[in-house]
Amino acid sequence: MQTFIKKGKEALKEAAELIKNENIVAFPTETVYGLGGSAFSVNSARKIFEAKGRPADNPLICHVSKISDINMLTDTVTDSAYKVFEAFSPGPISVVLKKKDIVPLEVTAGLDSVGIRIPNHDMAREFIDLCGVPIAAPSANKSSRLSPTSAEAVLEDMNGLIPLILDGGSSSVGIESTVLSLVNDKPIILRPGIITLKMLSTVLPNCTNYNGKGDEIKASPGTRHRHYKPLVELVVGRSNDAITFLYNNYKMLGINPIIVATNRVAAGFKGYNAVGIGDNNNEVARNIFKSLRELEKKYDAIITQDFATDEVGESVMNRVNRASKDAI
Ligand code: TXA
Ligand code: MG
Repeated sequence: MQTFIKKGKEALKEAAELIKNENIVAFPTETVYGLGGSAFSVNSARKIFEAKGRPADNPLICHVSKISDINMLTDTVTDSAYKVFEAFSPGPISVVLKKKDIVPLEVTAGLDSVGIRIPNHDMAREFIDLCGVPIAAPSANKSSRLSPTSAEAVLEDMNGLIPLILDGGSSSVGIESTVLSLVNDKPIILRPGIITLKMLSTVLPNCTNYNGKGDEIKASPGTRHRHYKPLVELVVGRSNDAITFLYNNYKMLGINPIIVATNRVAAGFKGYNAVGIGDNNNEVARNIFKSLRELEKKYDAIITQDFATDEVGESVMNRVNRASKDAI
């Protein structure tokens, strides 16, 4: 199969036609690119899992274009859910609610809940509207690889496996949506993102972060699998001294490393291979996956600083830590 990258009205129509015929299409969102199929189609779900090589127990997030379409996926839009969607949608948040029967278990990996998201991206919403059904879509990378934030990055992983990639430019957020479960009494953030606990607490005062223990692990399969792996070794240096130590060790072994840091920290590493990927952690989030995809092609090892200086930085580190060896 040949894979085309396209944009414009005709491409959107072609994409919607493919979806109606239970095929799958990659499309842009503000977080990362998604690999989409009809959320009501068992065949499409199977194609998504196959193209990604995704573990069968990891459910797909379903995307709609507006709040009034959420009831296509669930009958239980609770007050809490409304508050969250009203406050943060369209945007980088997915809300897990009890699913309707029409959503096949193949989409939700056997769970009776469904993750629902309204992307803040015009092309994404136009695409979903043209399809006329909610779009189930994981990130459009091969399973365990870095999430793609451009059409070209999707092509690296999906070339020959899907017919079409809609090109909507670079994703502005850069890391995946916050996943919030409202299935139980207590709202729990299953995956952190740039919509943070502090922000969610303004509408859900009893919201908490998933603590990595207990039954939620079953409800959050994606947090258990290895993820986001670059092709070369990635390691976190928790201090400038640790970064220098790691760097010199690599050099001694004939390995060519690169340091990935904020612009300020990178500027302190004169004479080293070092790249600044932002002035603040929102910029770091925007650039992290993109930079790792670029740097894995040019260097033998990647050393990142610890970006966890605020909640957004912690969300970035949620991805980086799972892609890396142990930090020092
Ligand atoms: O920003 C995003 O969320 C992107 C774009 C394409 O929308 N999508 C994305 O999908 O990151 P994916 O499949 O790579 O990650 C989905 C995460 C996984 O950790 C999965 O376990 C969790 O959401 N998830 C989905 N449905 C769930 C459910 N019903 N219950 C609990 N967790 C769920
Ligand atoms: Mg993913």
